[in-house]
Amino acid sequence: MLTRSVWILKWVIIMIIILAKGNPPEEPIKCSNNFTNCTITNSYGAFPDRSTCHAAEAAYPSSEQDVVLIVANATRAKRKMRVATRYSHSIPKLVCPDGENGLIISTENLNRVIKIDKEKMLVTLESGVTLRQLIDEAAKSGLAFPYTPYWWGLTIGGLLGTGAHGSTLWGDGSSIHDYVVQMRIVTAGSEEDGYAKVRTLEENGEFDGEMKAAKVSLGVLGVISQVTLKLQPMFKRSVTFLAKNDTDLSDQVIAFGRQHEFADITWYPSQKRVVYRIDDRVSSNVSGNGLWDHPGFRSTPSLALLILRSTEEDQEAKGDAAGKCRNGKLTTNTLIRSAFGLTNDGNIIFKTFHLKITI
Ligand SMILES: Cc1cc2nc3c(=O)[nH]c(=O)nc-3n(C[C@H](O)[C@H](O)[C@H](O)COP(=O)(O)OP(=O)(O)OC[C@H]3O[C@@H](n4cnc5c(N)ncnc54)[C@H](O)[C@@H]3O)c2cc1C
Ligand SMILES: *[C@@H]1O[C@H](CO)[C@@H](O)[C@H](O)[C@H]1NC(C)=O
Ligand SMILES: *[C@@H]1O[C@H](CO)[C@@H](O)[C@H](O)[C@H]1NC(C)=O
Ligand SMILES: *[C@@H]1O[C@H](CO)[C@@H](O)[C@H](O)[C@H]1NC(C)=O
Ligand SMILES: *[C@@H]1O[C@H](CO)[C@@H](O)[C@H](O)[C@H]1NC(C)=O
Ligand SMILES: *[C@@H]1O[C@H](CO)[C@@H](O)[C@H](O)[C@H]1NC(C)=O
Repeated sequence: MLTRSVWILKWVIIMIIILAKGNPPEEPIKCSNNFTNCTITNSYGAFPDRSTCHAAEAAYPSSEQDVVLIVANATRAKRKMRVATRYSHSIPKLVCPDGENGLIISTENLNRVIKIDKEKMLVTLESGVTLRQLIDEAAKSGLAFPYTPYWWGLTIGGLLGTGAHGSTLWGDGSSIHDYVVQMRIVTAGSEEDGYAKVRTLEENGEFDGEMKAAKVSLGVLGVISQVTLKLQPMFKRSVTFLAKNDTDLSDQVIAFGRQHEFADITWYPSQKRVVYRIDDRVSSNVSGNGLWDHPGFRSTPSLALLILRSTEEDQEAKGDAAGKCRNGKLTTNTLIRSAFGLTNDGNIIFKTFHLKITI
């Protein structure tokens, strides 16, 4: 009985701490002086192999022209290069240049929305622009980018690099790269090219084959400087969460996916539970102005993470399977009860969303 009260108390404390505000992650690129002698990590502060990645130099271009100069210079010097972003959210070591003498090119300052063509419904962005900027800028012109990952702190270059996607089985599908109509990429060039080359890749254009490869390049084919994306007229979404047991999941998956444009399924196999997100497009004149602030994607105070980690390590050490299941169920229940962070009354950010919450 006592251990159970201690356990509940611990969770209450964790929840209180989680509700407090955390800090954004540290800069992933750190240099000792004048952009030389650098280390790079991801936003989690550790790569899967826990090694430290070194680079001789970091560069922060603020235009495509800067990128060309930087790439030419490094090519002439036979230096290896990798592209990093403001926070570098990918877990694998994709941003690490080989060896100790590499150059990191950050897209942190390539952060401008270049042009919105309202008539053609196209937006042209520098590659370091975040999904959040894209959504905000498009909305100002009454437009929207339909399918996106769960979180908006990611950059266009990073999203393309890893084949990131939202959730739909409809139309062209939910991958960001399927909405690219043009991109500009800076690659190493020959001496005659001045050691760097800019290519404009277009659907059905001169470099159509290259375009298909460059769209999901893992960052190894060059520095994407600009991207043009196809937008749609702004709309709202009607969202309902439905939690059920998983008895008929295998019969449901495809049918459910076909039925709702933004269908999304979260399966908790150990709990034999499934949460279906019934999520459809509705006209933007439907009333309602929801806000979605998913607890899993908020900044979390280090102390809360520390407690969660030590609880997990303790359970691992003791082989406490029942404890892990209990924590898992409590987490899922808390998420479901809080409707995964959806509210009907937020009016600041998700202008495009109409939310109906059923638990
Ligand atoms: C909270 C959270 C939620 C997420 N949800 C989803 C989701 O719902 N669906 C999904 O598919 N993914 C999701 N992801 C994964 C995310 O889409 C990828 O990790 C993405 O690559 C991160 O983008 P980034 O801007 O941080 O890029 P980084 O991690 O910095 O870079 C990724 C790769 O792209 C390359 N790159 C970046 N910019 C350029 C450029 N300009 N030119 C050439 N190469 C470049 C880098 O070199 C690297 O190889 C999520 C991640 C987080 C942190
Ligand atoms: C820093 O680098 C720039 C050019 O790369 C150079 O002009 C400048 O002298 C350097 N400053 C120091 C303090 O080393
Ligand atoms: C490079 O940076 C490390 C710390 O990250 C420091 O210990 C080392 O002295 C630096 N080397 C040079 C040549 O500045
Ligand atoms: C190009 O390289 C030279 C010498 O290595 C350096 O002084 C200069 O700052 C570099 N320019 C750019 C844009 O990186
Ligand atoms: C799952 O739910 C259905 C009703 O939706 C019910 O008929 C079935 O018995 C449940 N299965 C289990 C294992 O609880
Ligand atoms: C909402 O917009 C649709 C077209 O998108 C239109 O048919 C409908 O009449 C509008 N409803 C209201 C209440 O304005």
